[in-house]
This record gives sequence, C-alpha cells and structure tokens, in this order.
Amino acid sequence: MTPTLPTRYGTVAQTFHWLTAIVVLVAFIYGPGGSEQRVYQPSRDFERQLHETLGLCVLALTFLRVLWKKFDSQPVVPPAARWMELTAKAVQSALYLLLLLVPLTAIAGAWLEGHPLTLLGGLQVASPVGISHDLGASIANLHTWLGDAILWIAGVHALAAVYHHHLLKDQVLVSMLPNWMPTRK
Ligand code: HEM
Repeated sequence: MTPTLPTRYGTVAQTFHWLTAIVVLVAFIYGPGGSEQRVYQPSRDFERQLHETLGLCVLALTFLRVLWKKFDSQPVVPPAARWMELTAKAVQSALYLLLLLVPLTAIAGAWLEGHPLTLLGGLQVASPVGISHDLGASIANLHTWLGDAILWIAGVHALAAVYHHHLLKDQVLVSMLPNWMPTRK
C-alpha cells in the first residue's frame, strides 16, 4: 500500500510558525523608538526589556525551527506557476534571513554602543566586545529598518496565503492550520 503523503505541516512546525508570528508582532508593537537617550531612559525600562526578551525568544525559536525542519517531513505542495513558486521561495527565504538578522543586528548595535542587553526580571547581559559607538548606532538604526521590513514582508506572505485560499482555492493556507480545521475537498 502506498503511504499517504502529508497535506499539512506537523504540530511542532505549526507551533513554531504561529508562535513566531505572535512573538514578532508583539516585539514590533513594543519596539522602543526615538533617540538612544530616550530608548535607554529608566522610565522606558519595562518596554525595552519586554522588547529585548521577546526578540531573543524569536532568535531562539528560529534556531530551533531551522533545526526541526531538518528532521521533519514537508507537506505536498500543490502545483503552481513557476513564477509563484520562485516568489514564494524568495519571500520565505527573506523571512528566515530577517528572523536571524533583526535580533542579531539589535544585539550587535546595543553592545557596540556600550549597552548591556536588558531583559525582563532585571537580567542583564554585558557586552563582551569593546565600544565602537558610531558603528553600534548605525547597526541599531539598521535594526529598526529591518524590524519594519519583516512586518511588511510577513504581511505580503499572509496576503499570499489568503489569495491561495480564496482565489486559487488550494491547500496552501490549510497546510499551516491544525488538523481539527477542515481540509479543502
Ligand atoms: C524579531 C524581533 C524584533 C523585532 C521585530 C524588532 C523590531 C524593532 C523595531 C521596529 C524597532 C524600532 C521602533 C521604532 O522606531 O518605533 C526596534 C528598536 C529597537 N530594538 Fe528591536 N526588534 C526585534 C528584536 C530585538 C532584540 C533581540 C533586541 C535586543 C537587543 C532589540 C532591541 C532594540 C533596541 C535597543 C531598539 C532601539 C534601537 C535604537 O534606536 O537604538 N530588538 N526594534
């Protein structure tokens, strides 16, 4: 008997996907904006600590997710036009890259500026590198741009999933939904 190929991602892969989406969104909402002085003023400690803690969770989730992907089986993708396949691949690769680069630029920027990482519970991770303030400030600025970019690209990615579901009427969106949700016939 031929084994049936999976049409959905497994529970672990789906959990990584939705948890990452939620944590990125909340980290974005709590992004500390403004001048360096404003970002690090004591009255904004909670907001910044929450943002940095969530951002580090994104980094940890991304490492674990990439590792898990190596062992997990992938669902069968419905056939699509070549340009669609290439665009989907490019968008997904950009998202993975940003999931790594957004937190890494934040850490590098803060440390080079001479700030420790400040996490919830008052935990601090001191900089292991020497101060290079101007370079750090440029990298921190790049972080804010990349932080905006990940939200825009995730928005395009979500719109594409809705397009697949409602216009192409295929299995793409359903593949990332739990088993108790109905499959397309
Ligand atoms: C995926 C995770 C993250 C996202 C989506 C994100 C997004 C953002 C955004 C959009 C801003 C700019 C806010 C504004 O201008 O209103 C920002 C600023 C900032 N983020 Fe993140 N961030 C993430 C992870 C982190 C991490 C891990 C840290 C830890 C060091 C961090 C530290 C900061 C700091 C210190 C600023 C202020 C930058 C400055 O101007 O000096 N972020 N972030």
